[in-house]
Amino acid sequence: MCGIVAYVGSQDAAPILLEGLQRLEYRGYDSAGLAVVNAKSLRTRKVKGRVADLAAVVPARFKGGSGIGHTRWATHGVPSDVNAHPHLDQEQRIAVVHNGIIENADELRRRLEADGIVFESETDSEVLSHLIGSTVKETDTLEEAVRRALKSVVGTYGIAVVDSHRPGEIVVARNGSPIVLGIGEKEMFAASDVAALIRYTRQVVHLEDGELAVLKADGFNTFTSDARETAKEPFTVDWEAGHYDNGGYEHYLLKEISEQPDTVARTLRGRLDDRFHIAHLGGLNMDPRESRSFRRVKIIGCGSAYYSGQIGAQLIEELARIPADAEPASEFRYRSPVVEADTLYIAISQSGETYDTLAAVQELKRKGGRVLGIVNTVGSAIARECDGGVYLHAGPEVSVASTKAFTSTAVAFALIALHLGRVRDLSPADGRRICDGLRKLPEQIKEILTQEEHIRTLAMKYADAPGMMFVGRVRGYPVAREGAQKLKEISYVHAEAYPASELKHGPLALISPELPTVAIVPDDELLDKNLTTLGEIRAREGRILMVGHRTAEAADDCIVVPKNETELDPILLTIPLQIFAYHAAVALGRDVDRPRNLAKSVTVE
Ligand code: F6R
Repeated sequence: MCGIVAYVGSQDAAPILLEGLQRLEYRGYDSAGLAVVNAKSLRTRKVKGRVADLAAVVPARFKGGSGIGHTRWATHGVPSDVNAHPHLDQEQRIAVVHNGIIENADELRRRLEADGIVFESETDSEVLSHLIGSTVKETDTLEEAVRRALKSVVGTYGIAVVDSHRPGEIVVARNGSPIVLGIGEKEMFAASDVAALIRYTRQVVHLEDGELAVLKADGFNTFTSDARETAKEPFTVDWEAGHYDNGGYEHYLLKEISEQPDTVARTLRGRLDDRFHIAHLGGLNMDPRESRSFRRVKIIGCGSAYYSGQIGAQLIEELARIPADAEPASEFRYRSPVVEADTLYIAISQSGETYDTLAAVQELKRKGGRVLGIVNTVGSAIARECDGGVYLHAGPEVSVASTKAFTSTAVAFALIALHLGRVRDLSPADGRRICDGLRKLPEQIKEILTQEEHIRTLAMKYADAPGMMFVGRVRGYPVAREGAQKLKEISYVHAEAYPASELKHGPLALISPELPTVAIVPDDELLDKNLTTLGEIRAREGRILMVGHRTAEAADDCIVVPKNETELDPILLTIPLQIFAYHAAVALGRDVDRPRNLAKSVTVE
């Protein structure tokens, strides 16, 4: 949620930390701060607001070759200067930045206060600086002090710590919140996300839960929580710094929507086999016998990832004829799920770090479940935890609202469904039909993108509605849910999604000229049923924007998308809804890339 960045080397840390924080701003952004160590003195600046506000108060001569920085997304305590990180110990010797939640913070705070320590902030994080500060005097190394302090902590953390008595050294630790190390030339970096490092190095190492690392300019050492040294293999990130630029677009969101012809092509690249009309997914780590052995598929993910999982469940049922369903990972993990040996579990995550999804995967693994991941971020925690999976190769998604990762996930599901189908009963002819349909997607997405102006006009027409209803049947229902999700999160217009078939069991009461409906109406075997629903809405004077493969008299406005294979149509039907939400948000003057109260990558519970 929040962003961490740390640097040690021969350059001044402050400009590097500020640049890194800017790159992380999309993760959490109500306040920001940094601390640098120079010749045994600690200097900090922190402010409520954006990284630009922090940069404005950091003096030009803010010298120091090691330092830590943070962007905050408030959990404990309001956004304010004092609640911003870094937090210091009483002697102002130790500075700590923290992501995550310390669950026993109240108890630790009471203990520390009884020892005479005075707290400045309302945050849970401040207990860490005081704990480490009171331990560091009794230990020979900072690493030892951090390790001892963390022994009394219950909760999740990614932390970076500096000690003014030890310039040129940083200690980082991870438990549930990501920390990645970046290896430079006689300099080391650490961050909560590679986005902060990529300008300087692509050689990275991910810390595991329970691991600590000591960084110095000439390298790093990693340790377990009981002080055993661990050996880590660096790997090269294939994303480049340019992937994080907005490419001349006004917003990252529009850039990411527009990238979808390429990102979908990348998810497909090298994975379709024309000889057997099957998908090759080496990362599944399953031979055909194993692929045939599953009797059920359970898909988990959060938010939009969960909705893409609903599209996935539909694809798997239709193409492989295996019962499949999707559930929010945040619910699944808490309900003591029954884990069965003949169920294939699939976890979805763009970031690969969503805490609820990670915890659900860990619960599954603990119970012996077989879990595949559909993940965008290579080497992320969820990717490492799973038994195998499919990488999306969609490139980094910067805007908070997911778009290209959503479509690439749906495409990855089509590949998995094709694979599971073709080792079962899906005929070669149907396999070929799906392969051909998948290949057509990038060009068809381009066609939809050419309708941006038409969709923008519609968005402006409907943007002032107090709320909108989204309806779809079967394949159209997850599309409706994702459409409502996009609209509500970036435009703050209340949007509700319902199966079209459920409308008359309650929500029809809401229909009036003030509550327009977006209806997902593909040309499939349910077309007539959907058109009847439009008639029912119309009869209640509801305005209708229909998204489908044709126009219809009952609708006030229509967006017509190219037709693909029926099973794959939901992927294309999603795209106009992204463009619609984007332009509605722009028309309403919203902060499109950084919607209020939200953050990319939810690494807390
Ligand atoms: C919505 C959105 C969120 C994420 C969810 C899961 O546009 O972006 O609902 O889909 O927080 O995130 P990941 O996919 O990173 O696990």
